[in-house]
Amino acid sequence: MIAVARPILEVDDVTLTYVSRDGPVTALERVKLAIEEGDFVCVVGPSGCGKTTLLRIIAGFIPPTEGGVRLDGFPIHGPDPQRGVVFQQPALFPWLTVQENVEFGPKMRGAPPGRRRELAEAYLRMVRLWDFRGKPPYELSGGMQQRVAIARVLVNDPRILLMDEPFGALDALTREHLQEELLKIWKATGKTVFFITHSVEEACYLGTRILVMSPRPGRVLAAIEAPFSRQAGNGASRAVKSSPEFVALREQVLTYIWEVEG
Ligand SMILES: Nc1ncnc2c1ncn2[C@@H]1O[C@H](COP(=O)(O)OP(=O)(O)OP(=O)(O)O)[C@@H](O)[C@H]1O
Ligand SMILES: [Mg+2]
Repeated sequence: MIAVARPILEVDDVTLTYVSRDGPVTALERVKLAIEEGDFVCVVGPSGCGKTTLLRIIAGFIPPTEGGVRLDGFPIHGPDPQRGVVFQQPALFPWLTVQENVEFGPKMRGAPPGRRRELAEAYLRMVRLWDFRGKPPYELSGGMQQRVAIARVLVNDPRILLMDEPFGALDALTREHLQEELLKIWKATGKTVFFITHSVEEACYLGTRILVMSPRPGRVLAAIEAPFSRQAGNGASRAVKSSPEFVALREQVLTYIWEVEG
């Protein structure tokens, strides 16, 4: 008998209804998905379709109205460093140095100073910012701050990385550099990633699987496999992104989105 690995993350029929002043707003309706360990899942869909809401539920920031989410088979009841969240704007502590920001999680968990420094060094080197360890975050560029935010989450050795448009506020060139860097980190660490983006090109390049969501109330309309992230990361990103296979996938995903947007 072949043993089938259990998905690392399971979203079971999640519905979320916000209570607003104008009445209830159903942001998600019976969303169902399973993510395998080591997957890089990219989520695309029209603005307001519930992507951030889904990420906040997986992060444990808000409970679903119906349904549930399980990580390694255990129900999620609240935030936990096992699920590391990276937002569009890096939420770093301005009164701490870059290194102190990265050491914050281990410190909270009681790691001794020597161990904290060792961990911070390993992850700051991974994002190539060890030389900037003594600076306050506001003296770094947006791209560098986002790399600190990634190191700060990775240092907790999370089971899954939850990223909400992490490169959305960056210029095109910095964004491409960070895509490469994230792919390298993903390959080096084997982490599972749940990544929201408005850029279909980014989703096709980074994702092993692309989920297309419907307009609100959000549902998963399509799950499309993509091969490029396992191939890419060799500095030839423009060649990959202009290849006929890549362009065909990008158009396929765009067609889904245009169809659902009517
Ligand atoms: N706290 C809230 N109270 C009421 N309604 C909310 C709340 N937060 C979000 N919504 C509504 O839920 C829907 C989904 O919002 P969400 O932020 O998840 O969308 P999104 O897909 O992330 O959009 P975008 O791509 O613009 O970031 C939207 O219609 C939004 O107006
Ligand atoms: Mg959002």
